[in-house]
Amino acid sequence: MASHQTRVRGLRLAYDDAGEGQPVVLLHGFPFNRFMWSGEVERLRATYRVITPDLRGHGETVLEDGAEASYGMDEMARDVAALLDELKIDRAVIGGLSLGGYVTFAFHRLFPLRVKAVILADTRPQADTEENKKAREQNAALALDKGMNAIADAMLPKLLTADSVNNRPELVASLRAMITGTSAEGAAGVLRGMAARRDHTDHLDRITAPTLIIVGSEDTVTPPADAELMRREIRGSRLVVIEGAGHVSNLEKPIEFGDALETFLNESMI
Ligand code: MLT
Repeated sequence: MASHQTRVRGLRLAYDDAGEGQPVVLLHGFPFNRFMWSGEVERLRATYRVITPDLRGHGETVLEDGAEASYGMDEMARDVAALLDELKIDRAVIGGLSLGGYVTFAFHRLFPLRVKAVILADTRPQADTEENKKAREQNAALALDKGMNAIADAMLPKLLTADSVNNRPELVASLRAMITGTSAEGAAGVLRGMAARRDHTDHLDRITAPTLIIVGSEDTVTPPADAELMRREIRGSRLVVIEGAGHVSNLEKPIEFGDALETFLNESMI
């Protein structure tokens, strides 16, 4: 895979850029990195140009010395826009899983004309409840006090189905490696950024680009009811429920996820 770095907005931003054709930007979940999209990149690169950045606070993207440590969803969306500027791309398919979906909403609100199509996987448009916000603050403290292994212990049972946790040690290990590869400071910042994110439910009816919504039937973090809400409010959107997948549905059911994604892209790029 072609790994790159570019300097934008006080960041050294790491990204992969593979294939040729219509650009498709895929944004990872929290607290993972661009390698969660390796399977999709391999599958799509024959037909599409697939761009997968590490969002600020994650992976190999780092803040330059003296840059403000600010991790809001709008900041991340502006980083993605700056990356597209660097790559001389005006419009792209923009999509993401969970946190990547929150950033996709922010991107669409800020730069609607740059969005050719939208992919919203295992995500939700609503802001955090007060209870969610408290849990984020506790997790930020956990990350800073006990490190990212403690975050992995707390998160893994929520990210995957019980079947995957018990029977797919390689999948569990690769998720743990992504989580523990995230810095505690970055994770704490992003948790606070997610807690402060705005509610996008009032924006859904302004999304007129072709939209694919994907959700694992067993996703308890952003459950199918949230996906249904998006399908109802985003005109003409398509919902694919992946049976037997939890929150990280692309890693648990890569073939089904890839089928949904590729079919959607092929149909909406004409
Ligand atoms: C994610 O997968 O990005 C997170 O679970 C999102 C969240 O905690 O809201």
